[in-house]
Amino acid sequence: MSDFAAALAAAAQRVETRLQAEIATLPESRVRDAMGYAARGGKKLRGFLVLESARLHGIAPEMAEHAAAAIEAIHAYSLVHDDLPAMDDDDLRRGQPTTHIRWDEATAILAGDALQTLAFGLLARDAAAPTAQARLDLIASLAQASGAAGMVLGQALDIAAESAEAPLSLEAITALQAGKTGALIEWSACAGARMAGADPSALAAYARALGLAFQIADDILDIEGDATLAGKRLHKDADAGKATFVSYLGLDGAKARAQALVAEAEAALSPYGEDGALLRQAAQFVIARRN
Ligand code: IPE
Ligand code: IPE
Ligand code: MG
Ligand code: MG
Ligand code: MG
Repeated sequence: MSDFAAALAAAAQRVETRLQAEIATLPESRVRDAMGYAARGGKKLRGFLVLESARLHGIAPEMAEHAAAAIEAIHAYSLVHDDLPAMDDDDLRRGQPTTHIRWDEATAILAGDALQTLAFGLLARDAAAPTAQARLDLIASLAQASGAAGMVLGQALDIAAESAEAPLSLEAITALQAGKTGALIEWSACAGARMAGADPSALAAYARALGLAFQIADDILDIEGDATLAGKRLHKDADAGKATFVSYLGLDGAKARAQALVAEAEAALSPYGEDGALLRQAAQFVIARRN
């Protein structure tokens, strides 16, 4: 196993344990059980980015796991809602029935809502960062990244593009993807610097390139991935008329763009020197992944 694969697996286990423990403290309900279901599994790449950026800034994993669990809760909520009939209408996620199929639509909507508020509650804990100022910074930046200036905006543009009269420009697709996928990835990579009260700009530059490469890989997987490995339905984007880098650049063009973005992400880590090795490997992983 590569150093990165081992670090990702360890991060996934830490974040999964933390998230499930938090959800288990909630009053018994169908929504609570659906939250636990929706949060389970996945690569936990965003949680890894939080833990690794924290390590680079001298923050212990016991502290950083609050923010790592928070971003995975937001991400899980975004997937639950993304899969709803009103959005992508998917019945399979992480190799399991989607939350609205396993439970019901109302429960899935509410589980997503409650995963979102759980995230902000986690960040407000004393143990989530060394200072109150850092906790407020984490909370305010996560609100920005997940809302109608970030992920929600990207999702709205993605849905609007399905019924647009003319294909989106490359600039418009880039903006769409920067919101839909980029904003949460950028928050994750910057979180460690924010906890330490340090400047997140090098990590932000890394993550902007990484996030775009990540979504291009997702779009490529939709076309030529293995559905069993991916754990979700594929070949959906073209049918739905989604605006993707592949729809604009073609498969080879999109692959070349993803490679260039990985090189850009790696270069942005130069201030971290050798310490940035795992994040550089994460960038390579993002475009080589099968799920
Ligand atoms: C899938 O994200 C949705 C996108 C933003 C493309 P991931 O590929 O990170 O999904 P999980 O968390 O590993 O299931
Ligand atoms: C989902 O993007 C992005 C968010 C949930 C914010 P996609 O719709 O492309 O993700 P998949 O392909 O369903 O995983
Ligand atoms: Mg979608
Ligand atoms: Mg989808
Ligand atoms: Mg997709």
